[in-house]
Amino acid sequence: MNILVTGGAGYIGTHTCVALLEAGNSVIVADNLCNSTAESIEKVKQITNKELTFYQMDVTDAEKVEAIFSKHKIDGVIHFAGLKAVGESVVKPLTYYYNNIISTMILTKYCQKYGVNRFVFSSSATVYGDNTVPFIETMDLLPTTNPYGETKAMSERILTDIAKANPEFSVAILRYFNPVGAHESGLIGEAPNGIPNNLMPYVSQVAKGKFEKLRVFGNDYPTIDGTGVRDYIHVLDLAEGHVAALDHLKNGVHVYNLGTGQGTSVLELVKAFEEANGIDIPYEIVERRPGDIASCYADASKANRELGWTARRDIIAMCRDAWRFEKNYKDLVESK
Ligand code: NAD
Ligand code: WQD
Repeated sequence: MNILVTGGAGYIGTHTCVALLEAGNSVIVADNLCNSTAESIEKVKQITNKELTFYQMDVTDAEKVEAIFSKHKIDGVIHFAGLKAVGESVVKPLTYYYNNIISTMILTKYCQKYGVNRFVFSSSATVYGDNTVPFIETMDLLPTTNPYGETKAMSERILTDIAKANPEFSVAILRYFNPVGAHESGLIGEAPNGIPNNLMPYVSQVAKGKFEKLRVFGNDYPTIDGTGVRDYIHVLDLAEGHVAALDHLKNGVHVYNLGTGQGTSVLELVKAFEEANGIDIPYEIVERRPGDIASCYADASKANRELGWTARRDIIAMCRDAWRFEKNYKDLVESK
């Protein structure tokens, strides 16, 4: 199939491009590089030894989006392009609503105009809000505490209404839990700008000596050791989940959790990182981070049942691969 991957130069996008190319698909990437670099596209080619088409463009630009649909015979779209920093979305809500929602509307508009009926959307476990774990697709969604989460919940509703009105349209809404890790080549991975907000990149940068210690946000949650519990999923498992979703698309809207079903606390992750890489991670307990919930993990059985997909890589592999990329990235970038 010929797949248009928006946001394909980003963290999850690059890994999914690798999985799509390895499964024999052709890939067209549209990315404005607002949170990535063109070098990551070269790395995808290097890993797969295959070519892909890359357009540096904004997917809120309707004319440019239409130009792609008219030039290429597209069989399906995977829509990753989006802004994802929760804290920034509170400060710049309009930027988030505009980017994340208009992009979904423009892409679906041209899907309809050009008869493209396969659409895979990057949603997030954040749409569950502070529900009871494990989160299951049939749950009523609770309000999220930030505009970023709202853009995901709204995009889900927009896609659902479009599919209701167009019986041929097939949509997979994939709710990711906490993607971590990197390709085993160490060539692509997560490289956040500035101080990382997320746990695994922060831990990796403590390991690298960039920060003295990890700040653990609260140890008084009702969890196994008082620290927050999340469902970390290897980005390569996530990437394979997209290929499975495309292969099994059926008419209507179908929502799938992509997680492992396994909760890991902050301190358990620190311990796993130390064990996987033989590096001590000093930490201190500090105040809770506003907006955090105690526990978030998936019931991942639907994706297994309907897509034949299951996450295969464990927390040790996630920590090992995250660290390999961090070390390699240092060599690649900081030596320049
Ligand atoms: P990322 O920032 O690494 O990748 C997103 C890519 O989209 C970037 O390359 C960026 O340059 C591009 N982009 C953003 N807006 C664009 C626009 N208007 N036009 C063209 N390109 C644009 O993020 P990621 O972690 O790979 O996330 C991919 C998707 O998955 C996002 O929609 C994100 O909200 C969602 N998601 C991510 C996580 C996570 O923790 N990483 C969890 C749940 C959902
Ligand atoms: C994980 C745990 C923190 C950093 C976020 C978004 C979510 C989704 C994934 C996009 C929590 C603790 C963290 C640190 C810490 N993204 N922590 N010290 O908050 O579960 O999810 O990314 O859709 O929408 O909210 O991930 O990695 O930030 O935090 O103690 O320096 O680690 O409190 O318990 P989170 P995270």
